[in-house]
Amino acid sequence: MLQPKLLELEKSFNKSVLTQIFDPVLEAAEVELWIKRDDLIHPVISGNKWRKLKYILNHVLIKGSDTIISMGGAYSNHLHALAYVGKTLNLKTVGYIRGEKPKKMNPTLLDLQQWGMELRFVSRADYRVLRQYKDCDALPELKKNEYWLPEGGATKLALKGVAEILTEIDLKMDVLCVPCGTGTTLAGLVEASQGEYDLYGFSALKGGEFLVQDVSALITTQKTNWVIQLDYHFAGFAKANNELLLFIEFFLKQHAIELEHIYTGKMLYGLYDLIRKKHFKPGQRILALHTGGLQGNRG
Ligand SMILES: Cc1ncc(COP(=O)(O)O)c(C=O)c1O
Repeated sequence: MLQPKLLELEKSFNKSVLTQIFDPVLEAAEVELWIKRDDLIHPVISGNKWRKLKYILNHVLIKGSDTIISMGGAYSNHLHALAYVGKTLNLKTVGYIRGEKPKKMNPTLLDLQQWGMELRFVSRADYRVLRQYKDCDALPELKKNEYWLPEGGATKLALKGVAEILTEIDLKMDVLCVPCGTGTTLAGLVEASQGEYDLYGFSALKGGEFLVQDVSALITTQKTNWVIQLDYHFAGFAKANNELLLFIEFFLKQHAIELEHIYTGKMLYGLYDLIRKKHFKPGQRILALHTGGLQGNRG
């Protein structure tokens, strides 16, 4: 059962909307494209963030923990949402940040501080060590009141909240697309799908082959209706080139939908590339999930 504090918080969310996209590329390929605007469900905990955090937070509250410790990069959407929700729920938050403390704090880090998150900057080597702790009590020297949350909220508890995305889609679709960082959002959708459509994950990272293993480890049922596109990483996580940036700019001008270059921009660029290459059958309806992350555009 969802704790009253979370039920209350959930009341402040906007209803998600589905928007159909019209343009000549789609027309030429005779496919339909819809975007689920989860970037609009909340000013801060938008996109896939609330979905992944919802039942983790419920577990934190049920356990009686008062501190959540997690990790992320200096522009982390995950830490951004966590710090905000921590402040809202009166929970202490601690964030291990990859790399040295910058001379000038970026807007994400400033928000984290303002919302009371304790920031601990760690070397890239130490950050890699932290990645190996997967369970909520796995971090060494964790105190009884503290709860460990791995990078990106990648836990099985996240899948339950992600699955709720599907209950909001009242449209028959052939393909559902989502960007992948840890693969948790894709795993939640795969787990909840009944095999009636294909799921496409778009890796935001170079060398995203490991995602297949990570997604498989998170799901409990063997499914064959999902793939991960590995070729749209633009040389690595958070990297971009002019072509990607121009695509994002064009998409905003053409469709009044803001994307960012880390996740949603790469997914839609990749999707358009596949559509141009006639990867999809005429008449197919494709739905792409806007997973938010627009706070990162400030940096
Ligand atoms: C905006 C945005 N989209 C997509 C993802 C990828 O989600 P996942 O790590 O669940 O694959 C993230 C990272 O959590 C994100 O911040």
